[in-house]
Amino acid sequence: MISGLDDVIAAETMLSDVDGLNGRLIIAGHSLDALAGHTSYEAMLALLLGDFLEADVATITRHLAAARKEVHGYIEGVDAAILALSPIEGLRAMIARLPDGEDRDTAYRLLAAPAVFTPALLRLQQGLPVVAPSDTLGHAADMLAMLTGTAPTQAQVNALDTYLVTVSDHGLNASTFAARVVASTRAGVTSAILAALSALKGPLHGGAPGPVLDMLDAIGTPDRAEPWLAAELARGERLMGFGHRIYRVRDPRADALKNALRQLAEAGAVPADRLALAEAVERSALALLRQKKPDRALETNVEFYTALLLEALGLPREAFTCVFAAGRVGGWIGHAREQIDHGRLIRPQSKYIGPLAA
Ligand code: ACO
Repeated sequence: MISGLDDVIAAETMLSDVDGLNGRLIIAGHSLDALAGHTSYEAMLALLLGDFLEADVATITRHLAAARKEVHGYIEGVDAAILALSPIEGLRAMIARLPDGEDRDTAYRLLAAPAVFTPALLRLQQGLPVVAPSDTLGHAADMLAMLTGTAPTQAQVNALDTYLVTVSDHGLNASTFAARVVASTRAGVTSAILAALSALKGPLHGGAPGPVLDMLDAIGTPDRAEPWLAAELARGERLMGFGHRIYRVRDPRADALKNALRQLAEAGAVPADRLALAEAVERSALALLRQKKPDRALETNVEFYTALLLEALGLPREAFTCVFAAGRVGGWIGHAREQIDHGRLIRPQSKYIGPLAA
């Protein structure tokens, strides 16, 4: 099999460190445990991009709100061909219409774009009128307001902020690497983000739409969790939302999102039967996986709680990848800037194994 570059170090970064052995994620010098639930997305952007944007949280908040308004102007150009696409493909098509460049205005437009285009595309696909960005709301609150047409509760805003912060950067994953490769050609940061989005869309990265929810729907009720999951394992299937390639102990992102979901539930924003089903599934899955692989810690991963959290926020599962992009775009831009400021053209070698010329 062709190498997946597993052990190759292809970049130096100040943005994040994934410590799989200890179950720790550091983003911009802070542990995710300290950030998630305590930090707005704008404050996260100040940590990731503050030097490049030459801005503090208040300035970033102001510029990002202005960028949401600017980007909203592009929605007039949405046509039937774009609405026929999946949400992530529609988002990519809309971002492709934004100007390219390596400057701050380009960065702000790209930070704003997924939060503005995703709700607009979802509403237009349902035949609903588009909701314009607000003058007063923060980024997460505005995204929710543009989705539902009503002001979100503080618990909902906190939950989305926690999600966006939690997924804002995660080492040199496939989409981030794609962004760095394109940025290294000096094609522009819009081009780099389009490459990243295309990589994220793949089902092996961010593009499998809600497999955890499909599993919960198939199980149906808590009493069916244990026999259903045991039958899946007996058939050699994998349980969705469990295990991770790099995290050998807990996935810190799962803990962060579990806390956010718990707070949303305390505010009455998660249907009680959905929560009871998810808890029964998690309990049974972990017990069964411990029996199956006693020497390999297979824990709950980020996908499990992402699915439940985004569902509770009213997002359809086919748009989950777009919301992932709304958080990860901060990390992508940070990596593209590092590549532009400190990197060279990325140009690895291949080994020829074809026939030799006669
Ligand atoms: N259910 C059942 N068995 C599992 C699971 C699971 N979720 N995860 C790993 N295993 C078992 C494998 O069957 C394998 O057993 P074997 O040695 O008898 O063949 C063993 O554990 C190790 O499996 P690997 O594939 O080497 O584990 P790896 O750590 O590389 O896989 C992966 C990681 C792909 C995420 C895997 O755990 C999985 O398929 N999980 C389910 C899908 C899922 O939740 N994906 C989202 C991941 S989060 C993210 O990527 C953003």
